[in-house]
Amino acid sequence: MLTFKKLFTQQEPIPDAAIAKAVDVMTSGRLHRYNSLHGEPTEVDLLEQEFADYMGSRFCLACTSGGFALHLALRSVGVTASDKVLSNSFTLAPVPGAIHNSGAEIVLVETTKDYLVNLDDLRIKAEKTGARFFMLSHMRGHIVNMDDLLEICDQYQICLIEDCAHTMGAAWKGRKSGSFGDVSCFSTQTYKHLNSGEGGLLITDDEEVIAKAIMYSGSYMHYSHHLAAPGPEVFTQIRLETPNYSGRMDNLRAAILRPQLQNLDQRCERWNELYTFLENQLSQLEGVWLPQRPSEEKFVGSSIQFSLLDFDEATIGGFIRQCRERGIVISWFGAAEPKGYTSRYDSWQYLQEIPELPDTRKVLSTMCDMRIPLTFNIQDCQTIVDIITDVLQTISPSL
Ligand SMILES: Cc1ncc(COP(=O)(O)O)c(C=O)c1O
Repeated sequence: MLTFKKLFTQQEPIPDAAIAKAVDVMTSGRLHRYNSLHGEPTEVDLLEQEFADYMGSRFCLACTSGGFALHLALRSVGVTASDKVLSNSFTLAPVPGAIHNSGAEIVLVETTKDYLVNLDDLRIKAEKTGARFFMLSHMRGHIVNMDDLLEICDQYQICLIEDCAHTMGAAWKGRKSGSFGDVSCFSTQTYKHLNSGEGGLLITDDEEVIAKAIMYSGSYMHYSHHLAAPGPEVFTQIRLETPNYSGRMDNLRAAILRPQLQNLDQRCERWNELYTFLENQLSQLEGVWLPQRPSEEKFVGSSIQFSLLDFDEATIGGFIRQCRERGIVISWFGAAEPKGYTSRYDSWQYLQEIPELPDTRKVLSTMCDMRIPLTFNIQDCQTIVDIITDVLQTISPSL
């Protein structure tokens, strides 16, 4: 029986140039972001500047994780415990976690069959709840119509925070994902598009927001070291009013990330070659449905989602089990019990209220999710398709 031997959790090695930079940092002993020789910029300062340049944003802050960046973003735009924050119901746990960490109430928005946040429901909930913040998760790299979304944000004066954990390198109508929000956040955790084990990046064009984020991240009074930040005059009052939540990035991680950033766009192209192959092949299989991705969306196919619309939950469970037995790791966001990185919104029992979201439940009940590591090649993708085809025949011989 055909089985797949490669690991879905295997990343590419860190590039030699990044390893050399990391060794330099370790040799210097100066790992803390503010520990610089003669006031020279540190690896973290440079990473922030280079990422801001890449994104075309004015300011950038590097911190400990994507989830922490989301928390800092919420705090820095002024979210407090008396606020409500709209967000996707199909997302990963760090997103509601960041909102919970800010003390605000979460208002979950429904999901369309294309795995996107439902803009009609967003409008209804913005109207009904009066929420003036929206944490938009570009979940699994699927980008909602940003023109329509910005119109809603404009109409309801909603402050937009983009969670670009899955869209670093992506764009909508040629404009980079992350350049739409008042603040946008990225993750550099191992499974994301840049890999430093853990890490987060926050960008904004707003000088007060970045000054607050820098103070919250734990800059003590070293804010003048930052390159992708406004002048010290912006910090005069903010430095006294903003608590230190200590979540800085260190020079070692920044050293690993800087050379990777140089190759980000090429990596995204490689992902898309694998994605396009899988998309073409899987969409030809009877019983497998993939959304038609809009031409305005330039996505990064670092994972793929498809729906088995004709199957019940027990059959999908059997499909996933058989795929796993043959080496294909597919995750399911529809399970009542959270498993690995997947969790359905109704398992977030810390929410003040778990809403009824029938559309989201329906979408998640048939949606399958598969990572596409760059250690795979086209031949590997063919083997994956062959095994999925086989398993589908087994669970449903009529196909
Ligand atoms: C959609 C999404 N948002 C945010 C995060 C948070 O990133 P981190 O793990 O760096 O905290 C993740 C991480 O898995 C994610 O998948």
